[in-house]
Amino acid sequence: MAPSAQSLPTSVSDEKYANVKWEELGFGFYRTDSMYVAKCKHGESFQEGKIVPYADLQISPCSAVLNYGQGLYEGLKAYRTEDGRIMLFRPDQNALRLQSGAHRLCMPCPSVDQFVSAVKQVVLANKKWIPPPGRGTLYLRSVLFGSGPILGSFPVSEYTFTMFACPVGRYHSDNAGLNLKIEDKFRRAFPGGTGGVKSITNYSPVWITVAEAKAQGFSDVLFLDAATGKNVEELYASNVFIVKGNVVSTPEISGTILPGITRKCIIELTRDFGYKVEERVVPVEDLLDAEEVFCSGTAAIVTTIASVTFKDKKTGFKTGDKTLAAKLFATLTDIQLGRVEDKNGWTVEIDRCHQCETLKL
Ligand code: COI
Repeated sequence: MAPSAQSLPTSVSDEKYANVKWEELGFGFYRTDSMYVAKCKHGESFQEGKIVPYADLQISPCSAVLNYGQGLYEGLKAYRTEDGRIMLFRPDQNALRLQSGAHRLCMPCPSVDQFVSAVKQVVLANKKWIPPPGRGTLYLRSVLFGSGPILGSFPVSEYTFTMFACPVGRYHSDNAGLNLKIEDKFRRAFPGGTGGVKSITNYSPVWITVAEAKAQGFSDVLFLDAATGKNVEELYASNVFIVKGNVVSTPEISGTILPGITRKCIIELTRDFGYKVEERVVPVEDLLDAEEVFCSGTAAIVTTIASVTFKDKKTGFKTGDKTLAAKLFATLTDIQLGRVEDKNGWTVEIDRCHQCETLKL
């Protein structure tokens, strides 16, 4: 059972930082102060949840999530700007994607407003864990799952929506560019499956191949489509883009790749830069023939791909400061960190005073 809301931080104006070696931050679990928990009975709607001290949840061994994988997650980040503001990046988009996944997995879902309010509460309650500007971000992880017991028949009697926060640095540590293995045996998603939503079941089934690739010295894995095994889909947890001349191509959203929020921003930014962007089927041959390749995601941001290895043959691509990936990374992080004007209206500032009053933090 979630603990009570008693040991909440009493003041969000406390500017002190948590005792973290920010320069050593990677992308891993870090226990912070508080988390958000809301519950919902079958046939009802989610009501406002509560901020409680971070703790383990008590869960039925017969719960739908443990037995049948009924769960979805979302990840987004909070950023501290040089002038002391706290920003979120398109939290409504995570809320909408969670709704689409909840429909697919037969779960009720918090509304967009509830989701965004939960994000703000978790950020404010863990404010001292937001890294100093440019030294990392506060990653918000929400999980929606069937918490009620189910053995044979559904629906499930109870659902839980929870959100916690971890300070994070870069997801990939290969600064010079990723070296990918193109996986030609295991598949990540299949037509009609759940590849297009952020189901928790999309990830661990491919750990076997990611682990094998890492043991062989690769940074990550690029998956092919299950129907033909001829077209590129996405990496373990990021979308892929290829660049040739003035044309940028990325696999189309067809139900087997995740509709990434960073992917969507990159398509807009790249068009603004004057490139032609194609969302289409991308055969492996087109990728091997590209000048530049990069991947995108909330955790990955924009990361250059230095090489891919397909059937033991390695192909290299352009890397460095002059790449489109470098320009996109700089532009996106400048917007996220409030260093440049956000012409697209993507950032949401957490107004301290207003939120303090509203949330009684
Ligand atoms: C994210 O980018 O938020 C993801 O879901 C990737 C995860 C493996 C960290």
